[in-house]
Amino acid sequence: MEQSARGAWTSRTGFILAAAGSAIGLGNIWRFPYVTGMHGGAAFVVVYLACVFAIGVPILIAELTLGRHTTLNPVGAIRAITKSRFWPLVGYLGVITGAAILSYYAVIAGWTVGYIFRTISHSSSSFGSFIADPTIEVGYFVLFLIMTAGVVVGGVERGIERWSKILMPMLFLILLGLIAFALTLEGASKGVEFYLKPDFSKISGSTVLAALGQAFFSLSLGMGAMITYGSYISKKENLAISAASVALADTLIATLAGLVIFPALFSVGMAPTQGPGLVFNVLPRIFEMMPGGTIVGVFFFVLLAIAALTSTVSLLEVPVAFLVDQRKWSRKKAVIIVTAIVFAIGLPSALSQGTVPALSSIDWLGGRDFLGVMDFVFGNLSLTFGGLLLAILVGWVWGTRKASEELLLGAGPRFSALVPGWSFMLRYICPLVIIVVLLNLTGVFE
Ligand code: PHE
Repeated sequence: MEQSARGAWTSRTGFILAAAGSAIGLGNIWRFPYVTGMHGGAAFVVVYLACVFAIGVPILIAELTLGRHTTLNPVGAIRAITKSRFWPLVGYLGVITGAAILSYYAVIAGWTVGYIFRTISHSSSSFGSFIADPTIEVGYFVLFLIMTAGVVVGGVERGIERWSKILMPMLFLILLGLIAFALTLEGASKGVEFYLKPDFSKISGSTVLAALGQAFFSLSLGMGAMITYGSYISKKENLAISAASVALADTLIATLAGLVIFPALFSVGMAPTQGPGLVFNVLPRIFEMMPGGTIVGVFFFVLLAIAALTSTVSLLEVPVAFLVDQRKWSRKKAVIIVTAIVFAIGLPSALSQGTVPALSSIDWLGGRDFLGVMDFVFGNLSLTFGGLLLAILVGWVWGTRKASEELLLGAGPRFSALVPGWSFMLRYICPLVIIVVLLNLTGVFE
């Protein structure tokens, strides 16, 4: 059987956990709180949730369906459904975006590993001095890339699936414990209010772009990760249920992370608008105040590092699956070469945190550092644009009629009632909303 030679998930829960593992990561616990903080809190959360369910879920279903139908990487999958020369470029964009996101994502993932040891040693050095040390910064970055490469060399079922199985339930439980503690802190209620009481006057074009980009980032959409993961699912699987489970699990973890961060943040009097350092500044404070905080903290950063690993694995898997399927490279060769390239692209991000001043604040992009520029260009714009093209590709070029035949395999006739709604969202609402948001780009560069 061709499918099993290429690799396939061993069980239904195996797939859902692996896809949830891709979705759940630093996007939920590092990126969601800091982006929410920068965009005014609760009102942003409302827009974000709307983006996840109205835009993200239809595109998630589209990516999974396309992947399973073709059992191929993004470029191969697109070639399989259209003869056009243009559309495969969307697959190439995904392959490049995967490598580009991995290049800075692994830098931040390295911080989580560093924080495991920092918590054990009760270091009181600030986050700023921690990341400005180039040996620490580059060392952990390389360590994380090597761990990712190690898992991906192992292949789909041995490497990727196994790691995802135990992690998610544990992360969920530890977050519940942290919420219970954070809510008892003095002044926590101000944080709860910031996070849950919307002030819609705070919403502007750039808020909506940030929310939409965050939805794509968090669900691993717009670059073919879910096409690739879908290509390993069996035909017996119900794709609609899978997509809904992944989106719910992902959203739950992100919203819970907010309930830890914001009460604690307001309680210690830090600013919600401080950007990417946010959770790395706040979390150690929580663990310091908490009884038994060292153990809880170590445990938390270990889980966060593993959550990040199941995401970096899916980022690396996209270029690797492309080279294995399309260029007939061995998995090992593909992993080694892509990882080396990612290291080279990631170096400026790693050095932008205080080591090399020229990379620390880039004027023409709103004072973002190099890592911030990468996150904005690839983690937001490129995914959003890729999502637009994928919605048009599956909605109009392949067509939701053909796509829904694949979607309904393994779903049963009851699910055909959902098809018109999905089709309408994918063909009309997704492209329209994304185009309007992207055209509204002005204001983003402030
Ligand atoms: N969704 C992952 C996270 O939230 C990041 C990611 C983006 C993974 C795109 C794959 C593709 O951490």
